[in-house]
Amino acid sequence: MPLYNSSSGYGALTKALHWLVVALFAFQFAAANIMLRLDGDATAMGMGQSTYYNWHKSIGLVALLVAVLRLLARRQGALPNWAPTLSGRERAFIHRVEQVLYAAMLAMPVSGFLYVTAGGYGVNLFGVWEMPNFIAAWPSLATAAKWTHIFSAYVLVATLTGHVGLVLWHTLVLRDGLIWRMLPRRNG
Ligand code: HEM
Ligand code: HEM
Repeated sequence: MPLYNSSSGYGALTKALHWLVVALFAFQFAAANIMLRLDGDATAMGMGQSTYYNWHKSIGLVALLVAVLRLLARRQGALPNWAPTLSGRERAFIHRVEQVLYAAMLAMPVSGFLYVTAGGYGVNLFGVWEMPNFIAAWPSLATAAKWTHIFSAYVLVATLTGHVGLVLWHTLVLRDGLIWRMLPRRNG
């Protein structure tokens, strides 16, 4: 399997980064739900609220790096031809969905980072490095960034429902093997 995309299918790099982002985002949603529900001295799986916040912020910044790599990788080679079983409407839908997914992959971590930086909370990267705060406390920016973060999370969930729903519909109901376009070893 070639490293970069070609007209006959997605390359190894796109596939690896796609599933890495899925894993990182699954962690982010799980950690966010735990950290927002824990209070005081309570722990979940042996970790307190501040540990979950730290991991959520740190993994979020890793996800930003991976999203940028992904965009750069997408610019290499050619974009794969459409799967022949997709209708014109589905192609238009997928095109729009992918734009929103890329926007969310950038908006989520950037808004989260701006929220904690402008809010004066900062980021202690993986509990080992206190990142310098290059924005002074700016409450109105922090509030705008916080609501962007929350709003983007809902937009992301709605868009992913469409993305995954379409893939599963084609794979499980129409049985055209669409999911294989993003899995190892088979192109096309
Ligand atoms: C990269 C992907 C990220 C995803 C998918 C994500 C997802 C989420 C979600 C779903 C929530 C809960 C929102 C709600 O209240 O309903 C949340 C909250 C939060 N996130 Fe993220 N996040 C990401 C990155 C980051 C980053 C990079 C930071 C900071 C450096 C961050 C900081 C926060 C904070 C502080 C909250 C709590 C907000 C509050 O007080 O309500 N997030 N995140
Ligand atoms: C955080 C979750 C996800 C994000 C952000 C995401 C994002 C994307 C993006 C942007 C593409 C376009 C190709 C590219 O530029 O990489 C894509 C394609 C694809 N995704 Fe996802 N995806 C997610 C989850 C999933 C899941 C859970 C599945 C499996 C059900 C899936 C299956 C696919 C398939 C099969 C394609 C290729 C579609 C085609 O071109 O025919 N994705 N995804």
